[in-house]
Amino acid sequence: MTHPSALTPLRCTVRGCGRPLCADGARLVCAAQHSFDRARGGWYHLAQPQDARSRTPGDAEESIAAREELLQRGLGTAVLEAVARHAVAGRVVDVGCGGGALLARLAQSPLAHELYGVDLSAAAVQRAARRRCATIVVANADRGLPFQDQSMDLVASIDARRPVAEMARIVKPTGRVIVVVPAADDMAELRALVLGRAEDLPGGAGLEVEFAPAFACCARERVEERVSLDREGLRALAAATYRLARRKERDLLDALATQEVVARHDVRVFELRS
Ligand SMILES: C[S@@+](CC[C@H](N)C(=O)[O-])C[C@H]1O[C@@H](n2cnc3c(N)ncnc32)[C@H](O)[C@@H]1O
Ligand SMILES: [Zn+2]
Repeated sequence: MTHPSALTPLRCTVRGCGRPLCADGARLVCAAQHSFDRARGGWYHLAQPQDARSRTPGDAEESIAAREELLQRGLGTAVLEAVARHAVAGRVVDVGCGGGALLARLAQSPLAHELYGVDLSAAAVQRAARRRCATIVVANADRGLPFQDQSMDLVASIDARRPVAEMARIVKPTGRVIVVVPAADDMAELRALVLGRAEDLPGGAGLEVEFAPAFACCARERVEERVSLDREGLRALAAATYRLARRKERDLLDALATQEVVARHDVRVFELRS
């Protein structure tokens, strides 16, 4: 993927350093000789011990595998297609890349991409690195993204962390940021069934407010996916979705027979304000 001493868009995460990282064989090294070995699984651990500490150390294998299963059942593929439609060529990072489904989709694109994935979860990076289509790094997005300023043509985030100021720092002035969040009425029918009511989620409107300090929204899309899920599928959905993850909700879902699920997502494409 990289040849010896090749400059990368990554930057050193040793506190107070931040120098560019070069790929030197199986390690990344900065000019101050801080180095990061490539793990056997193929990813780089860039989180510092203090950064790795998090109330949410990223998702467990169960959730990552469940999202993969849902994709195979057709839930989530339309979102990947929507992001691919809005993508631009060049260097891309997927923040909270999970098992790497978006990276794999973009690797199939006719656009030339140099792909990066960031996630805090060991289970996620293992899966994503196995796809061998991107450079995968472990980092806590809440503590900074380990990339140089203005190094990315595209920054993506699907149902994941979206540190606005860091995204604004790493995207090129001509680049874009694509963010996907559950729409206000995402799975409203199922939530009403299981939770007794379905409160509106912040959705795309909330996202635009969040990004307004640094970004202007230049495209909007709503993606609706309808799939019929049997009990196994509903179990995967419970494991994949934080909002239906509590014991009581899982039990209620478990009691349902085959159910039609309508997932709704808001896609927003942002450009830096000039
Ligand atoms: C809901 S999943 C979405 C995964 C993927 N984008 C997808 O659409 O399937 C959220 C992801 O963010 C990761 N994550 C959670 N906290 C994080 C953090 N602080 N920094 C980086 N990634 C984090 C989780 O491990 C998980 O893979
Ligand atoms: Zn350094």
